[in-house]
Amino acid sequence: MASKLTFESKHKLLSGHEIPAIGFGVYMISPSTTDKVVQEALKVGFRHVDSAIMYGNEKGCGAALNASSLDRSEIFLTTKIPPGSMGYKSTKQAIARSLKDANTEYFDLILIHAPYGGQESRLGSWKALVEAQSAGQIRSIGVSNYGIHHLEELQSYIENGGGGEISVGQWELHPWLDHSDIAGWCQERGIIVEAYSPLAHGERLDEPVLAAIGKKYGKSPAQVMIRWSLQMGFVPLPKSKTPRRIAENADVFDFELDEEDMARLDTGEYAPTDWDPTVDMD
Ligand SMILES: NC(=O)c1ccc[n+]([C@@H]2O[C@H](COP(=O)([O-])OP(=O)(O)OC[C@H]3O[C@@H](n4cnc5c(N)ncnc54)[C@H](OP(=O)(O)O)[C@@H]3O)[C@@H](O)[C@H]2O)c1
Repeated sequence: MASKLTFESKHKLLSGHEIPAIGFGVYMISPSTTDKVVQEALKVGFRHVDSAIMYGNEKGCGAALNASSLDRSEIFLTTKIPPGSMGYKSTKQAIARSLKDANTEYFDLILIHAPYGGQESRLGSWKALVEAQSAGQIRSIGVSNYGIHHLEELQSYIENGGGGEISVGQWELHPWLDHSDIAGWCQERGIIVEAYSPLAHGERLDEPVLAAIGKKYGKSPAQVMIRWSLQMGFVPLPKSKTPRRIAENADVFDFELDEEDMARLDTGEYAPTDWDPTVDMD
């Protein structure tokens, strides 16, 4: 499967829609430069943009989409409901605001950014997402940073008539952050797993194992990490504001890591570079 992946490959979602197999992350891209950077990503062929209300740059993402000659249906746009907008009413308001800010009629995907706020807030937010999905404002819905206990709470709510389906889950995933329990839970159920910080936020690119593997294939450490993610069946969301790196991160479909190299990258380490709400017990 992985060897047949191309830049145009898509995965089928439980919602019935499709998601591109790789996306472009826009965390920490300033609102004033987002439009230009996303246009650069679209130019090299990315068709999937991962934004969030917390990043403050939905407007720039929407501007880039609208400035491109591509049809809206050719681009997959994600945003996320922040912890400050948890609960039914706040999430409804957040969705309306985001549609306006991004100047789009619909989002392809909205995720709950993190499982904070307690059960009532989490399920209230989910209800608002389900309603917006029925109203055509969102194509697919999902969660991010949920622990298995949060996923089970949500799955049980859905099975008891709560509605919707978890199409996508997003977690920090790279060779130095083993979330295989959560990823396995999702993959067994047909939920597509997105890998955020697939380059470990740029903090592991000097690891000798990446240089060694990269040398074998004539690829950079970043390309090896993105390829690992694709071959794990994840949807990696590499971020860069640098045109040369944006192009480099797209150039990962002409090689395949062999089993031995995949095993070398199976470090078993659990070293988050970002927050880790999966362990929140509220
Ligand atoms: N759901 C969540 O809670 C959550 C949390 C974090 C991230 N995310 C999503 O995941 C996306 C990616 O994660 P991330 O932004 O944390 O980190 P990342 O993609 O793992 O790494 C980005 C860093 O790596 C550098 N970089 C990118 N390509 C490179 C290359 N080819 N060679 C060398 N350095 C390179 C970037 O530098 P330059 O930009 O300076 O080129 C930047 O400093 C985010 O943008 C966001 O969409 C989601």
